[in-house]
Amino acid sequence: MKSSTPPTSCCGCAHNHPVADQERRQTIKWLSMGLSTLPFMSGAARADAPPLLLVDADAEKDFKPLRPADLAIGKPLLVYPFDAKAGAPKNDSRLNKLVVIRLPEDQMTPETRARSASGVLAYSGICTHQGCDVKTWMAKENVLACYCHSSKFALLDSAKVISGPAPKPLPAVSLAMDGEFLSVVASSPVSQG
Ligand code: FES
Repeated sequence: MKSSTPPTSCCGCAHNHPVADQERRQTIKWLSMGLSTLPFMSGAARADAPPLLLVDADAEKDFKPLRPADLAIGKPLLVYPFDAKAGAPKNDSRLNKLVVIRLPEDQMTPETRARSASGVLAYSGICTHQGCDVKTWMAKENVLACYCHSSKFALLDSAKVISGPAPKPLPAVSLAMDGEFLSVVASSPVSQG
């Protein structure tokens, strides 16, 4: 049965690890503002801004920027943008968390393919319903699912909502290659579908 209770943990899971009030307020505010920006994008479009690579969101040290080949097809990974110059992930806000996944390019809509790099797509990893992490790929349906209240997003088509209570697509982030590494295209705005 679906629940309408907002998640009380940092990711909405059943483990009851408390989320800081500030973080919860930030998530609620972001959801209410229409999700048009992600915190790491502010200032990222400056000409002198360092490239933003991507690192595993669970990494605490020995950060390894992601290459497309590090991602198995159909296996999503939660990541943070990584300031290569500072050698630090942009993980001061949970809202910076992205989900990346490598999928067959010939199955993507043209608009979605244009945002991909070497078959890798990036979207906000925070559900537009009540802010849970989204990271479950359902290969049979070709959708990414949020386990909190079962919203499903069509990542091959701009993360449009296929079912569930999510009101909007996951904000999309354009990727490019920086040498052998995946990087965020900082000059492009975050888009929704
Ligand atoms: S938080 Fe409710 S469906 Fe994702």
